[in-house]
Amino acid sequence: MATLGVNIDHVATVRQARRTVEPDPVWAAALAELGGADVITVHLREDRRHIQDRDVRVLKQTVQVKLNFEMAAEPAITDFAIEILPQLATLVPEKRQEVTTEGGLDVVGNLDRVRRCVDRLHAAGVAVSLFIDPAENQIEATKGLGCAAVELHTGRYADAISAAAQAHELEQLLKAGRFARDCGLQLNLGHGLTYRNVQPVAAIPDAAELNIGHSIVARAIMVGFSQAVSEMKRLIVAAQCNAK
Ligand code: PXP
Repeated sequence: MATLGVNIDHVATVRQARRTVEPDPVWAAALAELGGADVITVHLREDRRHIQDRDVRVLKQTVQVKLNFEMAAEPAITDFAIEILPQLATLVPEKRQEVTTEGGLDVVGNLDRVRRCVDRLHAAGVAVSLFIDPAENQIEATKGLGCAAVELHTGRYADAISAAAQAHELEQLLKAGRFARDCGLQLNLGHGLTYRNVQPVAAIPDAAELNIGHSIVARAIMVGFSQAVSEMKRLIVAAQCNAK
């Protein structure tokens, strides 16, 4: 049964727009848990544009479900992750100019750098997932590094401009998901998922965790955080029941 990871970065985006103390992502995380979140996800970017160090420290103490810490494969952020010890660290590519994470991590092309980071996290007892495009060579490299999980980038599926293109991208996710599971990796998926497009992804066999941020935060502004999370959770559970 796929679980729901709620990414609360954009609660912090609103706060940082005024460099004030509200809204507090820690409060949002508690409301997300009440709405049925199985995982709380945050991305501490190197430029600290939304989530701050303090947020992660407080969340580690207050979150009652799993904390998934998204991070670049960089030494300073790795030091911080080892101080915090989240239940899962997800390595993502990071460019300063991008609006959001664009494309998956090129594990194959950056094997030594990624390995240094993964090895340090593993030595500290932190399970690691790599956020990658749905490609077999990237999945094999993830397996080779001893990671527990992959998170397949669903952005191309979410951005597809026709039903045919979307069906093609879903097929790529299904194939890559099968391959990841055959490699013994936990299958997580995320990026660009919304209330309209989530169900085919939630129905992917053995999908373990869906990480969803922007769409939930956007809806939460209108209906409140717990309700926005519980509506998303209901869609995911229904998609899985229908797939059986
Ligand atoms: N998964 C990863 C690895 C991400 O970097 C992000 C965006 O921070 C998400 C999931 C969530 O994407 P979205 O905000 O589009 O739901």
